[in-house]
Amino acid sequence: MNFGNVLVTGGAGFVGSQLVQKLLPVSNRITIIDDLSTGNRHAIPESEKIVFYHDTVTNEQLLQQVLPDIDYVFHLSCRNLVLSADNLEADFQTNLYAGFFLLQQVQKHCPSLKKMVYTSTASVYGNAPIIPTPESYYQITMPYSASKFAVEHYCQVYIHMYQLPVTILRLSNLYGPGQLVSNPYCGVVAKFFDAAQKGQPLTIYGSGHQTRDFTYISDGVEAIMLAGSRTDTVGKVYNVGTGIETSISDLAKLVLQVVQKADHPIQYEPDRTVDRVYRRALDSRLLQNDLGWQPRHTLEEGLTNTFLWLKRGERQ
Ligand SMILES: NC(=O)c1ccc[n+]([C@@H]2O[C@H](COP(=O)([O-])OP(=O)(O)OC[C@H]3O[C@@H](n4cnc5c(N)ncnc54)[C@H](O)[C@@H]3O)[C@@H](O)[C@H]2O)c1
Repeated sequence: MNFGNVLVTGGAGFVGSQLVQKLLPVSNRITIIDDLSTGNRHAIPESEKIVFYHDTVTNEQLLQQVLPDIDYVFHLSCRNLVLSADNLEADFQTNLYAGFFLLQQVQKHCPSLKKMVYTSTASVYGNAPIIPTPESYYQITMPYSASKFAVEHYCQVYIHMYQLPVTILRLSNLYGPGQLVSNPYCGVVAKFFDAAQKGQPLTIYGSGHQTRDFTYISDGVEAIMLAGSRTDTVGKVYNVGTGIETSISDLAKLVLQVVQKADHPIQYEPDRTVDRVYRRALDSRLLQNDLGWQPRHTLEEGLTNTFLWLKRGERQ
């Protein structure tokens, strides 16, 4: 499979940069648009196949220039959950309007589009009563979940009105190599490793009993590429997760096991005001059945790989 000419929005971010790395050997050219609001230019691999634009996805002139010979679009740029709660207007602009705008521009200026993948989020499930949660459920309580969910709906509109070939993935908590603690809004796994390495206590907000579905980055990227490569998944919405719940306390213990600092201090702080989700695990059977996707890494393996990557000090 060759992806030809690819556009990755948010390609300097955690997931985007790892996707770009995996796409490099199977693409002719990768165009990245990233405004570097949370992304890191150095996370993008050096390659003559990559064309990087330090710009926003809502730059119409730029999209008109790059879209005409693009074969595949991966729309990943976003303003994250924590930032979104601070500024609803900015969340609307970056997560909702930019998603809508990109769909509109792709429909107008991308005649050779073979597939577009939109990375949505497990945050659309809120505090779901069904664990692992299937794609049919939703509970919108945060600006981030509202804006990401709205773009899912606009994807459906463009699929049905204009036959745009789009697939939607709802990602669970991804972690692993490439998750940079230089991004203050990075996930908890990167924060735990960073604190352990600096000799600082691992901070847990709330009781630590809250659970998340931690999926290793290369498994997540594999799902994104599979969804991109298949034409029979247009209009489908797929969960990407392991289905396994891990409490934040257990995660902290596992990280400390991996770094061999079992007696390292853990401190508890009052619960955060955002992302007050008590249980999360995703039912990914649809993705497994339709695309044959399976998470290949256990949490222990993924954490060990992350630690080895941190020790090597690559692109941080
Ligand atoms: N990381 C996860 O655990 C996770 C979980 C669920 C869903 N997702 C989804 O995956 C995608 C990637 O997430 P991530 O973790 O890599 O986030 P990230 O913050 O690391 O990357 C997002 C990138 O988008 C860029 N960006 C923001 N606004 C932009 C704009 N207007 N124009 C161009 N670039 C812009 C940022 O600079 C950054 O590089 C997002 O769509 C997110 O909603 C991620």
